[in-house]
This record gives sequence, C-alpha cells and structure tokens, in this order.
Amino acid sequence: MKILSVLGTRPEAVKMAPIIRLLRETAGIESRVCNTAQHRQMIDQVLDLFEIQPEYDLDLMREGQTMAQVSAGVFTHLDPILGEFNPDWVLAVGDTTTVVTTSLLAFYRKIKFGHIEAGLRTHNKWHPFPEEINRRLATVTADLHFAPTAWSQGNLLREGIEPEKIFVTGNPVIDALNYVAHQEEPKEITGLLNTLGITDHAAKRLILVTAHRRENFGQGMENICHALRQLAQREDVEIVYPVHLNPNVQEPVNRILSDVKHVTLLPPLDYLPLVHLMKRASLILTDSGGIQEEAPTFGIPVLVMRETTERPEGIEAGILKLVGTEPSRIIREAKRLLDDPAEYTKMAKTANPYGDGHAAERIINALLSTSRG
Ligand code: UD1
Repeated sequence: MKILSVLGTRPEAVKMAPIIRLLRETAGIESRVCNTAQHRQMIDQVLDLFEIQPEYDLDLMREGQTMAQVSAGVFTHLDPILGEFNPDWVLAVGDTTTVVTTSLLAFYRKIKFGHIEAGLRTHNKWHPFPEEINRRLATVTADLHFAPTAWSQGNLLREGIEPEKIFVTGNPVIDALNYVAHQEEPKEITGLLNTLGITDHAAKRLILVTAHRRENFGQGMENICHALRQLAQREDVEIVYPVHLNPNVQEPVNRILSDVKHVTLLPPLDYLPLVHLMKRASLILTDSGGIQEEAPTFGIPVLVMRETTERPEGIEAGILKLVGTEPSRIIREAKRLLDDPAEYTKMAKTANPYGDGHAAERIINALLSTSRG
C-alpha cells in the first residue's frame, strides 16, 4: 500500500509526525511525505526533531503570503507528485490551506483521502476563519475520517457520514507530546526560567502566552496585547510569549509589548522547548488549537482567547475556559485563577479528553483493515 502524507504548517508536522514514524516501520507500506512548506523555519524545526526527511518539498512559503497564493502553489506542484507516486491513500491533518487543497487534488485524481482530526466544528463559518470551512470541505472529500473524540464523531454522523467510515482514534498530538515530554528539559528553558526567577516553589508564576489566529488579527491582537500589558503590572507573574512569525502578529506584539517589565517576547520556539515551557507554566493564555489539546496532559488551566472553540471537550471537563479577546475579561479571568487557589485547583486537572497517545496505531490499523476489507 502506498501512502502519501502531506503537511505544510508547524502544527500539521507535529500531529503527522507520530503517524509518519509508525508508517515507515509498518511492513507492507511504502510511505512518502510531501511538505508544501506553507511554513518554512517553523516546520523544518519540527521535522528535524522527529527525524523526518520529506521526499518532496514544494517550498511554497513567501513573506506575507495570501491563502490564494498558497492554494495556487499546492494545486500546481502537488498534482504532478500525485501523478508520479500514484498513492493508494493521501493523508492530511486538520484544517489549513494545505489540507483543503490536498483533499481536492486527491479527489480530482480519484485517490482515497484520509482526514486526520476530522469532525471538529464550531458551526460558525467565520470562527475560526478560514479553518471552519476548510475542515468541512475536507470532510466532504474524505474516504476515511479519523475523529479524535466521540464528540467529533457525533458531528460527522449528524452530517450524514457513514458510521463505518469514521474511526475514533484520539488526536495524534498526544502521541507527539508524549514523545517529547519525557525528554530532558532543554538548557535554554532551564536558563530562561532561572533568569526570570521561576523555580519550582517560587512565589513567581509563569504565564505562557501564544496568539496567532487570523480571526484575531487587528482589534483582537491589539486587545490581547493590552490585556497582557496590564497583567504584567503584577509583581508575582512572568509572562513569556513566543511570537509567531506572521507579520500580522509580529507588528502589534512588538509595538505594545516590547520593553514591558515581566514580559519576555521570544522568537517561535521549537516544539521540544515549547512543551517544556508549557510543563512549567502555572497558567496558559492562548488562541492555539494544539495547546488546548496538550495542556490538559500537564493539568495546566488554559484561558482560550477566542469567541468559539471546536474543542469543547476540555471546556466540559473544566480544564479550558473561553474568554474571548476583551481585555477586561481576560484580566478578570486570569486574576481569578492567580488569586484564588480553590478556583485554580478546580481547573488544574490532568485527565486529557483529547487522546491517550495511541492515535497513530489506530489510524494505521484502520487503513490496513479497510484496505484488506
Ligand atoms: C496557518 C494556518 C492555521 C494554523 C497556523 C499555525 C491556514 C489558512 N492557516 O496560519 O490554521 O493554525 O498556520 O501556525 O492555513 N512565517 C514565516 N516563517 C514560518 C511560518 C510563517 O516567516 O515558518 C510567516 C510568513 O510571513 C508567512 C506568514 O507567517 O507568510 C503566514 O503564514 P501562513 O501559513 O499564511 O498562515 P498562518 O497564519 O501561519
């Protein structure tokens, strides 16, 4: 069986990595990888960490690229690869421009498409933009749907997908997380935390921040930055924010948060140091999807700076809370957790509803059994 795994951004590489590693060890499978390189530096770090050398690299990233430009690049350059390799299956994860264009190309060539992280929904066309529509389109073209949870499976069933085409696998991000969380804490993180005075029992607490979503560009990012600026007035916190390379993120963050006491802005971190920083955080403020899935493993409360989430399982479990981007709300919710130990303990639970670290096995078993059947 020939399988082509396609990825293009950092989170796709993290989530596909455990599957690609296991595919190459599985007898009877010829596995190849195509990196559209919708991201460049950010994805290369992840591929190095997981020791993956893609057979194909479309090298599509351009400074300030539009979604249309990325799409045009994938259409032009992935199609001949599908023609030459002629895989039995194409796999992709999630809801980016890379995923939606890949799923369409597979359809045009009548190659089966396996959609990983299928069935996530906000049911709001514009939130997140453009991901909600990208993942719905990927569902329409997919032949197998690897839903991370029973909730995402339910969404697919309600949309009329045949039950036998859906496999509940957990999210492979937890497989990836387990791979790096057990590795030693990188020296750069130990050094940074020592410099900031964050030791295990210190009165100072680490707040880890990430924010990069398209629907937060403009006013949302401005609001988030102003909220952080105010939170940083507290003497008992250190805010660490690795800043995404997108210019729409870089500009407001650097303008509002450079040289603010108790705020450390970093370049995007490699996955290994990011996971270790997450482990040491007392609180996470984020608009990222992956971090919502990862943080429950470490029992760290997450305030989600978005209006909607396609990952309600963590909210129901009480580990995540949606707080939007209004500065007063972000500050109020953060203070509640920092100042009220009972509120903090209520949210700091270590059960992870998104996966158990065995998603890659389940996905590959499903591919093998479907092909045999
Ligand atoms: C994309 C995905 C989003 C995902 C996010 C993860 C789409 C529509 N969006 O958004 O779902 O959550 O990736 O990061 O596919 N850049 C670099 N180096 C890099 C990566 C990005 O310089 O390694 C800069 C470039 O200027 C690039 C810009 O960031 O043009 C935006 O990258 P792009 O892939 O268009 O969108 P993201 O905002 O990263």
